Amino acid sequence: MHNSDAPVLTIDGPSGSGKGTISRAVATALGWHLLDSGAIYRSVGYAASMAGIDLSDAEAVTRCAETTKIVFRDPRDGGETRVIVNGHDATDDIRTETCGATASAIAAIPEVRTALFEKQRSFRKAPGLVADGRDMGTVVFTDATRKIFLTASADERAHRRYKQLKGKGLSVTLSSLLREIQARDERDATRKVAPLKPATGALIIDTTAVAVDVVVARVLAYARPA
Ligand code: DC
Repeated sequence: MHNSDAPVLTIDGPSGSGKGTISRAVATALGWHLLDSGAIYRSVGYAASMAGIDLSDAEAVTRCAETTKIVFRDPRDGGETRVIVNGHDATDDIRTETCGATASAIAAIPEVRTALFEKQRSFRKAPGLVADGRDMGTVVFTDATRKIFLTASADERAHRRYKQLKGKGLSVTLSSLLREIQARDERDATRKVAPLKPATGALIIDTTAVAVDVVVARVLAYARPA
């Protein structure tokens, strides 16, 4: 099979909608590759911050997006995939909400999105790809045959992020997280280029009060109809 013919399942949605967890579980169950496109935007935001780049300088940030080396490395011990940015293990650093906000800011620059387009497309390989992000179904893999949009209430999403970040030992408060997440979603959904929205024909799943394994089963039933 040619790589461009490999099937793609896109999973888009706002922060904390369950995309990361669901995408990983579905990719594992299908034996498909996984693209965490948010980690790419986070890595560029991280590299730009480390280099002291002014985030309002679109040209400098675009150059940073073009030159930053991002490698996803399989963990040796079965833990989390490591994200190596310009040779430095940034796995934990890119997960903070500050880095999420930086990623969201630089992701609104059209030239940055163009610079990262082919890198994201290169993840499409046989036997298939699960692509997690904001514009996977609407821009990057418009020809995917299966598209999903995950949502959840803002409160629920803030709670999930709170548990996730606390679990990593980060110091966060629920109320500030809720504010930050709402601000980030607002920016991601209202930007001019590739705004967060369901792709035409996408299956929309509200995960607010639904257990992870139930959502995974639903996505799998949709991805591989009997
Ligand atoms: O999925 P995440 O929280 O790791 O993404 C971080 C930010 O990156 C998100 O707020 C907006 C940006 N992003 C994007 O613009 N397009 C994507 N496909 C993925 C992420």
